[in-house]
Amino acid sequence: MRKVAAVTGGAQGIGRAISLAFAQAGYDVAAADIDKEAGLELIRDIRKLGRQGMFLCVDVSAEEEVQRWFRVIAEEFGRVDALINNAGISRGGSMLELPVSDFDRVLAVNLRGPFLCSRQAAALMKRQGGGSIVHIASTRALMSEADTEAYSASKGGLLALTHAMAVSLGPYGIRVNAISPGWIETRDWQKASRRTVPVHSERDRLQHPVGRVGRPEDIAAACLYLCGNNTGFMTGQNLVIDGGMTVKMIYEE
Ligand SMILES: NC(=O)c1ccc[n+]([C@@H]2O[C@H](COP(=O)([O-])OP(=O)(O)OC[C@H]3O[C@@H](n4cnc5c(N)ncnc54)[C@H](O)[C@@H]3O)[C@@H](O)[C@H]2O)c1
Repeated sequence: MRKVAAVTGGAQGIGRAISLAFAQAGYDVAAADIDKEAGLELIRDIRKLGRQGMFLCVDVSAEEEVQRWFRVIAEEFGRVDALINNAGISRGGSMLELPVSDFDRVLAVNLRGPFLCSRQAAALMKRQGGGSIVHIASTRALMSEADTEAYSASKGGLLALTHAMAVSLGPYGIRVNAISPGWIETRDWQKASRRTVPVHSERDRLQHPVGRVGRPEDIAAACLYLCGNNTGFMTGQNLVIDGGMTVKMIYEE
């Protein structure tokens, strides 16, 4: 039977890796992103894998755009088995000076967006008898550097949205989990005109217990796992994928 994955921010970075991993695993993929150039490149690459790909320019914080995206998904694909809420932005700076509009924008994309997309996906999933939703949060939901209030709050909210939705949607056969990535290198997963070769110092690598920085493929594999048949007893959970950084104790010498 046909399987369909919807991926937000699906054209670049971690989202691009997720879109291509689902296509490789046999899903047709509906990607939403605000970058049209990147979206068209993605669709070409999905079709090379022999799957059907659809791209729509969608700002996930805009309700009418999200509604339109899911109308098109329903018309073209007739179902959605997996929704990956991946689109996210960050605005740093001292909280004493950060414009409130920046705080609002981060919350709108990173938290309101997943809520809007999940509502639309859940209506389709309920009709078809189930599905799986994954929110891409961050280890910054659990710990912080200075001057990251908006981003950290949005990701903390996303973890709470995960368990709330898991309880509400469980009776419809819909599972909801989160992934909290640590440092994931995305420079080589941008659109061709922005792509660069990443360079990491030994210090960058060795501060991670696993001895390297994360790759988008690490997160994509976990999304497939969470949406697969082997995780039917798992919902409301947060999978931390950070090379061990959040379990490492640090004392200054
Ligand atoms: N890269 C990391 O180290 C890291 C770590 C933890 C969590 N994350 C999270 O992973 C997700 C992906 O991050 P990334 O590093 O791949 O980012 P990225 O900037 O490389 O890619 C994000 C994609 O989302 C799109 N996008 C931005 N705003 C959008 C909107 N309003 N509507 C639709 N699409 C939009 C962008 O155009 C881009 O294609 C984000 O939620 C981010 O917070 C990333």
